[in-house]
Amino acid sequence: KQTENQILIIFGASGDLTKRKLIPALFELYKRKMLPEKFAVLGASRSQLSDEEFRLRADEFLDDHESLEDFKKMLFYQSVQNDTADDFIPLKNRLDEIADAGSIEKNYVFYLSTPPSLYSVIPKLLCKNGLSKSDQFFRRLIVEKPFGTDLESAQELNVQLLNYFEEEQIYRIDHYLGKETVQNMLVTRFSNGIFEPLWNRRYIERVEITSAESLGVESRGGYYDHSGALRDMVQNHLLQVTGFVAMEPPVVVEADAIRNEILKVFQSFRPIRENEVSKYVIRGQYTASTIGGKQIAGYREEEGVDRLSRTETFIALKFFIDNWRWAGVPFLIRTGKKLPTRVTEIVITFRKVPHHLFGNNNDQHSHNQMIIRIQPDEGILLKFGMKTPGAGFNVQTVNMDFHYSDLTNTTVPAAYERLLLDCMIGDATLYARGDAVEQAWKFVQPIINAWQTNPEIPIYGYPAGTWGPEEAERLIPNGSWRYPCKNLTNDGLYC
Ligand code: BG6
Repeated sequence: KQTENQILIIFGASGDLTKRKLIPALFELYKRKMLPEKFAVLGASRSQLSDEEFRLRADEFLDDHESLEDFKKMLFYQSVQNDTADDFIPLKNRLDEIADAGSIEKNYVFYLSTPPSLYSVIPKLLCKNGLSKSDQFFRRLIVEKPFGTDLESAQELNVQLLNYFEEEQIYRIDHYLGKETVQNMLVTRFSNGIFEPLWNRRYIERVEITSAESLGVESRGGYYDHSGALRDMVQNHLLQVTGFVAMEPPVVVEADAIRNEILKVFQSFRPIRENEVSKYVIRGQYTASTIGGKQIAGYREEEGVDRLSRTETFIALKFFIDNWRWAGVPFLIRTGKKLPTRVTEIVITFRKVPHHLFGNNNDQHSHNQMIIRIQPDEGILLKFGMKTPGAGFNVQTVNMDFHYSDLTNTTVPAAYERLLLDCMIGDATLYARGDAVEQAWKFVQPIINAWQTNPEIPIYGYPAGTWGPEEAERLIPNGSWRYPCKNLTNDGLYC
């Protein structure tokens, strides 16, 4: 689709996300000539900054490129007390001024990258000032995570937003959907004749999604301690990824068709009841340890974190999708901070053959696995048994391994590049729809409730730099996670 001329207004523009992710993503799009012909960015936040100062700040995460100075000319800044109605009049005037000076049509994308307490305030003020709707131009609203902190607050936020914007104008960002390999899931499944026939309960024994991070909470202790891994990673990113793995083929490749299918998956999640939480969910928190001779602080010693915090930095859960395709197949999700490495993978474990022909060697009893590597080193790995050359019929497991990096002249765009561009074009396929976000909260809410009300549910410590508490192993009685939680440090990640 043609990208129409427009202005992107970023609220919370003096924050980290803007300089680390949004401006660099826009610069990449600019270098690749993918921005609209006439385009501007208006940063808005409380800080008093001039255009020049805003441009200087933007510099920090941009590489030195011949077009840098031209790109920076598209950046403007307006100070706004985000909750003051009067400040939206100068904002509107500034937008008119930028649009007129650059002959840019008054199509506006508003990006909310502020503290969540402002998510309903800003849309209201935009609406009051006539900025949320226009007969002539498009108006869109991007909402950053977190979209609510529980089911009730998410429902409330949806109601608030819908007072001022239509659902079609609202783009709830989930940057995992911007990752190339998550999207490739659809192509792998639905453009190949060989996988989809096997993609069901008859041939798949279990599905594992692991998203490990080697970093800890860094400077975000204050935020994270009120969030935890369940809210921070599972409710949004990892359930959305599950939606792509588990959905039925959409009728067409269009936003609503795809998002309908994702919603159906979420509606089919078998609820984990509060009294079942200990059985299906394991939570952990990293403790102090020594990695490579270096002392690593435990979570409770991090800045901004309560010394007695019971916030989980690790979670592993098992659940089921009660529909025809997936009945009885366990889905396992695991994510944590301060694990041995950064890796996000989907592991599809296929059932074993019904009869073992080739004697009793170990490899012939192993499962075929398909591993979709979301990051880093995006690609797909298929593990299968092959005859060991020579006498007899010994079986060994070998890998068929595709890496995106093998494709020459191809750069994998960063998630924010893809998502920003999609919103500019008006394609909401990779944005979460309100009903699906609420459905995902419905699924995690009993877990939150159980943890809040039942102090008996343990939170296991795991030394920083290990694969999380060993207790997570019991979620897979007849197998193991691809990187077992046996407090082993990692090596040989991809084989
Ligand atoms: C964010 C979480 O949404 O995703 C962070 O708030 C987490 O805690 C991050 O580190 C992970 O994203 P990525 O793209 O690095 O896997």
